[in-house]
Amino acid sequence: MKRAGNSRAERPPGFTYVPSRSGLLRRPPSKVILHSDKIPLSRVAARFGTPVYVYSAIMIRERVRAFSTAFRGFPHTICYSVKANSNIHILRVLRKLGCGFDVVSGGELQRVLIPDRSAADSVVFSGVGKRTDEMELALKAGILLFNIESESELEALAGAARRLKRMARIAFRVNPDVPAKTHPYVSTGLQEHKFGVPISEARRLYRQAAAIKRLTIAGVSVHIGSQITDVEPFTLAMERVADLVSALRVDGHQIKYVDAGGGLGIDYESEQSAVSEQISSYAAAITKPLRNLKVHVLLEPGRSIVGPAGVLLTEVIYLKKSGRKRFVVVDAAMNDLIRPALYKAYHEIALVEIDRSADLETVDVVGPVCETGDFFARNRNLPALKQGDLLAIMDAGAYGMSLASNYNTRLRPAEVLVDGRSMKLIRRRETIDDLLRQEV
Ligand code: LLP
Repeated sequence: MKRAGNSRAERPPGFTYVPSRSGLLRRPPSKVILHSDKIPLSRVAARFGTPVYVYSAIMIRERVRAFSTAFRGFPHTICYSVKANSNIHILRVLRKLGCGFDVVSGGELQRVLIPDRSAADSVVFSGVGKRTDEMELALKAGILLFNIESESELEALAGAARRLKRMARIAFRVNPDVPAKTHPYVSTGLQEHKFGVPISEARRLYRQAAAIKRLTIAGVSVHIGSQITDVEPFTLAMERVADLVSALRVDGHQIKYVDAGGGLGIDYESEQSAVSEQISSYAAAITKPLRNLKVHVLLEPGRSIVGPAGVLLTEVIYLKKSGRKRFVVVDAAMNDLIRPALYKAYHEIALVEIDRSADLETVDVVGPVCETGDFFARNRNLPALKQGDLLAIMDAGAYGMSLASNYNTRLRPAEVLVDGRSMKLIRRRETIDDLLRQEV
């Protein structure tokens, strides 16, 4: 009989199983409990309820350091991509490590300025649809770089800069027409996608921008997609960008920055071994083509920093059978974590307390929302579960809470940040009053 295998998913150093010895010291441990740093996740659930997101500060720091180490020797700034997880306490951890930020809205910009107003000088502003009021906010804050994605956006930014009598540093986000080998919904670097300007038109656009008074050309930007685990597409894109940088310099433009975007993937299927090697080979893929160009690289990682540093804790509320099918109904749903529903994304599911050796059962883990797409796992082998069991949905630190909604008038979960022996509530669970207050 197969035993519970993947129900023990660990993500060291952030999430690991620790034997718990209740009673006599000499007795063998009665159970193993999934911990975040030094805190048993069962304690987090008991204190803050479920569903709840739990993040490990230690793990976030470790991953930022892995980036810094991999890129040391090459001038760079990590501009963490706020959309992946935008809680201001997470942003504070990142800022303390010296990170800048990649924002895609006025709202995200306002968030990153809360921990540190001076963060503005390492903020890049991306996105195909920046509104003028958002541009104005960014101009007043004095951000590092606007990544421009169209001619009409260029005009709009020029107008805003004139009105405010401010200078705007710009890069064009070029679309290198490189396939990213990832889910079609998160692939962005092909001509058919809405993102960026065609790389073939870049020289004309830079010439046009150079003639506009309040704009300063400062760089070239590219982002080919997300959850990319093979580094080759990054090299391909960078080679095209490097050629463009050389051509633009011949045309007389000053190109100081290459914004390499984000997109490095993580291993959702199991514990990722050798994270630092992976990030090093990514660094090599990005920097090799840029070696002789004397540019400063801006990096916009999101998922690869926070993804494995977060879990969604949920409780089993019902067990249910339908013919031969078995369902485990949990108290989290697609409104809390939409990735499985939206991208058929795989997330490992770990049992928080393993206190028995149970046979494996093939189950669907589903939420209470009224949609067939509301599932976290289908036909997954998990140890026979019972009501009240706590499950951790792994690798939920990125694009989890930031994509959460109130569908079915469900209240968005609380968020807790664990750092060594401390656990801090960094977003309280929503209340029905929070929601209804908006409906004037
Ligand atoms: N920079 C730009 C311009 C982006 O559009 C993105 C992500 C990033 C950086 C960060 O990419 P990362 O390093 O996190 O891959 N909701 C999807 C992912 C959407 C990614 C959108 N753009 C998911 O859950 O897989």
